[in-house]
Amino acid sequence: MAGNKIIIAIDGYSSCGKSTIAKQLAARLGYNYIDSGAMYRAITLYFLRNGVNYNNTDEVLAALADINLSFVFNETSQSSDIHLNDEDVSLPIRDMLVSEKVSPVAAIREVRSFAVAQQKRMGRKKGIVMDGRDIGTVVFPDAELKIFMVADPAVRVMRRFKEMYATNPHITIDEVRHNLELRDYIDSTREESPLHRAADAILLDNSSMTRDEQLDKVIGWVKERALSKAVS
Ligand code: DC
Repeated sequence: MAGNKIIIAIDGYSSCGKSTIAKQLAARLGYNYIDSGAMYRAITLYFLRNGVNYNNTDEVLAALADINLSFVFNETSQSSDIHLNDEDVSLPIRDMLVSEKVSPVAAIREVRSFAVAQQKRMGRKKGIVMDGRDIGTVVFPDAELKIFMVADPAVRVMRRFKEMYATNPHITIDEVRHNLELRDYIDSTREESPLHRAADAILLDNSSMTRDEQLDKVIGWVKERALSKAVS
C-alpha cells in the first residue's frame, strides 16, 4: 500500500472516537495525523489569552495575522503536538474554558478560511489522516476514503468525562454532557461549513466496538481504496 498513499477524512460529533481511530491508522500506515479540532482550539486559546473580541471582524483578522500554528512530532507519545507561535499548547487547549468557547470561534468565517487553507496544504502529498467536522465535505472533498463516525450519546459523554477527569477531578458528568450537547448543536447548525455527512462517507458506529475491531474494519476499507487507486 506504501506507493498508493491516499487521503483519509474522518468527520463526526465530538467524542465519537475520531482521534483514536485516526491515530491508530496513521501509526499503522505510516501516515501523518492531523487533528483539525486542535487548530480551532489553539486559535480559541490565543483569542482568550489576548482578549480578542471575536464578534469584531477587524480584531479577528488582526489576531489571525499574529497566529502561527504547526504540528511537531513527539517521539514519546508517537503523535503530533500542536504549537501556537512555537509554544506547545497540547494541554491548555483541552481546558474547559477553551472547550466552551471553541464552537463559536470555529463558526467564524475568517477563522475557518485561515484553518482550511493550512489544512488543504497539509494534504498535498497525500498519506494523511485528518479528523474534524468538515474534512470530507470542505477540506478534502476528493479524499479517497471518507468516514463519518457516530456513537451513542451516553458512551460519548463517559468517554469525554474520563478524558477530562484525568486533568480536572472537579469536572462533573453533567458539565461534560451540557458542553457536548451545546457543541453538537452549534457545530451542526452554524452557517459556515456545518457538520454533516458527505454523501460518499461511510458510516462507522463504534458504540460497541473494541479499538482492534474498528481498526480492522477501517484498514479493510483503506486497502480497497488504495487498490482501486492503483488500478485506476
Ligand atoms: O474535535 P474537537 O472537539 O477538539 O473540536 C473542537 C471544536 O472545533 C468543535 O467544537 C468544532 C470545531 N471544529 C470544526 O469546526 N471543524 C473542524 N474541522 C474541527 C473542529
